[in-house]
Amino acid sequence: MTQFALNTSSKKAPGHFDRADWAGAYCNVEHEFNDFPLEVSKGKVPKDLTGTLYRNGPGRLERSGQWVHHPFDGDGMIASFNFSNGKVIFRNRFIRTKAWEEEEKANRFLYRGVFGTQRAGGAIANAFDLRLKNIANTNVIKLGNQLLALWEAAEPHALDPETLETFGLSNLNGVLDPGEAFSAHPKFDPGHHGNPCLVTFGVKTGVKSTIRLMEFATDGPNSGDLIHDRKESLPGFAFLHDFAITPNWAIFLQNAISFNPLPFILGQKGAAQCLSSQKQGKAKFWLIPRQQGIFSGQSPKTIEASDGFVFHHLNAWEKEEEIIVESIYYKDFPSIKPNENFKDIDFDSIPEGVLKRCHINLSNNTSSTTTLSDQCCEFAMVNPRLQGLSARHSWMATSTREKGNAPLQAIKKLDLFNGKTCIWSAAPRGFVSEPLMVPKTNSTSEDEGWVFVLVWNAARSGTDLVILQANDLSEEAVLELPTPIPHGLHGSWFPQQ
Ligand code: CO
Repeated sequence: MTQFALNTSSKKAPGHFDRADWAGAYCNVEHEFNDFPLEVSKGKVPKDLTGTLYRNGPGRLERSGQWVHHPFDGDGMIASFNFSNGKVIFRNRFIRTKAWEEEEKANRFLYRGVFGTQRAGGAIANAFDLRLKNIANTNVIKLGNQLLALWEAAEPHALDPETLETFGLSNLNGVLDPGEAFSAHPKFDPGHHGNPCLVTFGVKTGVKSTIRLMEFATDGPNSGDLIHDRKESLPGFAFLHDFAITPNWAIFLQNAISFNPLPFILGQKGAAQCLSSQKQGKAKFWLIPRQQGIFSGQSPKTIEASDGFVFHHLNAWEKEEEIIVESIYYKDFPSIKPNENFKDIDFDSIPEGVLKRCHINLSNNTSSTTTLSDQCCEFAMVNPRLQGLSARHSWMATSTREKGNAPLQAIKKLDLFNGKTCIWSAAPRGFVSEPLMVPKTNSTSEDEGWVFVLVWNAARSGTDLVILQANDLSEEAVLELPTPIPHGLHGSWFPQQ
């Protein structure tokens, strides 16, 4: 195992962390920067990196002394890093959602958050207020000429890709109805059927769930146009945060969880706090044939899945009569109880994410699961050119402990063929977010490229952008941001056109 370290001065045991260091990242972003050239504090920015990295995540977590109940309820803020000729220009801007504008003016929370943030005044003040606050905080992508800030339960916000100015809610040229769900986990199909495209979905759930599977052109004069559209209704409640694609299938995992909306309606809990695990495996894979694939037009398949809760998938691919899906599994749905403070959470009381591989057999409609790595991890990806195909290498955020739950403090490269790992660690005082692997333009090997990661550097109470070599995770450059950014969610890279 190769080990690189940001700070090697600690004599503490591996896996030690100070919770106050971790929690220090949860602060408000107070300033918006425009055209700010970043200082390189270590190394050099590769000159052949040309394009823009976008990150999304909660930037406002407190108003007039009231904290959000869960960081996922924080208002979305986009950070962008424009790379050109070894220089990096930084910008950050809140998305001007309707709720953000109103709450900025009022200087207090006016809306309930899905993850349990309540308006002041207890249950009575919150009961029967079933409005969803579209906080646009989960992911950011480019589609056509628009930059889109995504939040899965409603339509995206369109932004200027350069200035990050908010244009407003987007229905994607009439594709979406007002308020229609649009996932925060679109997948870029690298060209399984000729041209690359973007595959995504929206889910409307209840007693039955309807998935709308959409494919958009990402190249040429019709870039941004809807090219395929399919709706499927399936029985039961579904919480679908992510999905996976292969050339022929869109793969959804219906977690074995139930939803009791009563505490939400009565103002006692946020909507997501009303989710609970169902015992005795009721999880199911829903496989929807893609319209360009060889099963086009056929009905979806439903296949029993193993227990556990999944937010994110790593990748999926097809092999003869099988679909193989790799995902991060939790023993139970991780949640923060109504009376808990998220900054005080006991990591040991929450299940860790474990990387598993599931073989779905299409000839006898069964599935079986094996563990690839039981070290706590999240936010895993393969080289984006292998999305939907068999990949050897994967990159993910991980704890430095071998077992149990702990904050994400390292980046791991895991060889999916032989289990070999390579680690870059920010411990003891650094905490990582989602790593983003960007292949080199003319790369010939799968692991040739870079990994971008935002690191909360508790030693300076600030955020660093770290650039690693993808193949051995050696450090290329560390850049200090002029503003702290709370632990974030997802982002994307777009090369210069
Ligand atoms: Co996600």
